[in-house]
Amino acid sequence: MRMFSQEVYKARREKLKAAMKSGVCIFMGNNEAPMNYPDNCYQFRQDSTFLYFFGIAQAGLKAIIDVDNNRDIIFGDELTVDDIVWMGEVASIKELAARCCVVDVRPAAEFEKYVKAAKAEVHFLPPYRHDNMIFLSSVLDIPIPELQKRSSLPLVKAVVALRNVKEACEIEELKAAAEIGYEMHTTAMKMANDGVSEHEIYGTIEGISLKHGLLTSFHSIVSKNGQILHNHTHENILHTGDLLLNDSGAQTDMGYASDNTRTFPVGGKFSQRQKDVYQIVLNTINGSIPMMKPGETYQSIHLKACEILAEGLKGLGLMKGDMKEAVQLGAHAMFMPHGLGHMMGLDVHDMEDLGQINVGYDEEVQPIKIFGVASLRMGKRLQVGNVLTNEPGIYFVPQLIDIWEREHKFEQFINYAEVDKYRDFGGIRLEDDILITPTGSRIVGDRRIPIEIKDVEEYMNM
Ligand code: GLY
Ligand code: MN
Repeated sequence: MRMFSQEVYKARREKLKAAMKSGVCIFMGNNEAPMNYPDNCYQFRQDSTFLYFFGIAQAGLKAIIDVDNNRDIIFGDELTVDDIVWMGEVASIKELAARCCVVDVRPAAEFEKYVKAAKAEVHFLPPYRHDNMIFLSSVLDIPIPELQKRSSLPLVKAVVALRNVKEACEIEELKAAAEIGYEMHTTAMKMANDGVSEHEIYGTIEGISLKHGLLTSFHSIVSKNGQILHNHTHENILHTGDLLLNDSGAQTDMGYASDNTRTFPVGGKFSQRQKDVYQIVLNTINGSIPMMKPGETYQSIHLKACEILAEGLKGLGLMKGDMKEAVQLGAHAMFMPHGLGHMMGLDVHDMEDLGQINVGYDEEVQPIKIFGVASLRMGKRLQVGNVLTNEPGIYFVPQLIDIWEREHKFEQFINYAEVDKYRDFGGIRLEDDILITPTGSRIVGDRRIPIEIKDVEEYMNM
């Protein structure tokens, strides 16, 4: 099991103690998750906050950081010979704990006793796995439906403040994930030819992660129906002239993600109409990455990016009027109903289990509650060390067009007669992962997946 050096985990826990000042902080590791019977499980994935503070990717562990008594404890049961017969020998919990600088290891059953005997306030993070909810509910004597609201906001905030800013060792991991992501994306480009199925490309690129001994960071979206934002079906056969949208990424064995999207023409040649729409999305990503600097709010960058997008759509005759005003009112969201990006790190939507409002927003920047902008997962001021995605898109969603047109919605900004000509166009999204640096920002990884029209065509025809 690969882990960072001991000091990394110790320093993170010390910073957490300094931020919390008092209390008993609970960290629930994940258990194996049965797929169809208890011994046939999904691939194990450790909880990301547990990984952050303890680094041990093993099922069945829990931990406590007891701030008042300055104790870090890992709870879990060592394998018995019955387990070893089936699973082979693995490092003991004691050995693994030593690798994250924890010497206090106790049997799993002692966790409950420790929590129940605690004199100080018990802090826990919002649980998202049902087995952990049932367990916490029983140990803390809190009804399951109340667990979310009784989870600890101070602990959430302290964890977010730490995980927000990526350390040098984490950036190296993210770069490694980006490199596998590059291979996944360029392979998909090369495979996108007439008669090939989406499944074949999906299986091949997920296999690239697997062949490196890794998982993907989320279910790959490989679809010629790019207008369906999170489309997880891959049942179509590709034909020359289709656009294929590939939104996929790898995660390293330590859990760090990549998340990129490219959209490219089956057969390797964009039509003029595809180029026109693609170039608008390209101008939006290329125009908004340089805006990503420490101190800027991502909400304002999202809105500026939407203005670039809307101006492009106006140039194509799909929108009309004042595009600043159109974006303020949300008219552009018929074409881009999602946010410009999200935090990324140990989770592809980093820390989303801790509550989007706590990760992407703060006292200063609050969500804008109109369709489209409301889906922006990250709005707050950018900080050096943040890693987040920039992923604009243009989509033609026939069902959405129908409703808006019937309601005469934003008729002053949307040229429905023109939009109707694009009903079968599909969707285009382009996505890069960006690190905020002291002077601005840069793409995570050593090379950018081909994105300019001529580079994509050249690469696909090489
Ligand atoms: N790449 C999937 C997402 O950002 O939701
Ligand atoms: Mn994304």
